[in-house]
Amino acid sequence: MRTAATFASVVAISAAVSAAALAQQQDDNAAHNPVDLGKTTFAQKCSHCHGPNMVNSGTVTPDLRRFPDDQPRFVTTVKQGKNGRMPPWGDILSDDEIIALWAYVSSRRTQ
Ligand code: HEC
Repeated sequence: MRTAATFASVVAISAAVSAAALAQQQDDNAAHNPVDLGKTTFAQKCSHCHGPNMVNSGTVTPDLRRFPDDQPRFVTTVKQGKNGRMPPWGDILSDDEIIALWAYVSSRRTQ
C-alpha cells in the first residue's frame, strides 16, 4: 500500500515537472515569435467574443480581420475597453502581450 502511494506520488510529480517543462518550451517559442504569442493570448482572452482565430459574423463583435492598420487605436481600445461592451485589459495583459496581439491581428488582416 505504502509503496503504491509512493509510486503514485512520484508519477504525479514527474508529470507535473514535464508539464512545466513543456509550458516553458511553449513560452520560449512564443517569445521568439510575437504572432504565436498573440495567437495564444487571443485564444485565451478574446476568442470567446471575437471568434476562434478571429472568424465571426461581425454582427455582435467586430471582425478584427477588418480592423484598420491603426496600432495606437488598437492599443487604446484593448487597454481601456470600448463603450462598456469591449472589456478593458490594461490591468490584465502586459504591453508585450498587447503588442503580440497586434502582430497577430495584423497578420490576419484581409483588406
Ligand atoms: C466580452 C466580449 C469581448 C471580449 C472578451 C473581447 N472583446 Fe474586443 N470587442 C467586444 C465588443 C462588443 C466590441 C465592439 C465595441 C464597440 O464598438 O462598441 C469590441 C471591439 C474590439 C476592437 C475594435 C475597437 C475599435 O476601436 O473599433 C478591438 C481592436 C478589440 N475588440 C480587440 C479585442 C482583443 C484584443 C481582445 C482580447 C484581449 C478582446 N477584444 C476581447 C467584445 C469583446
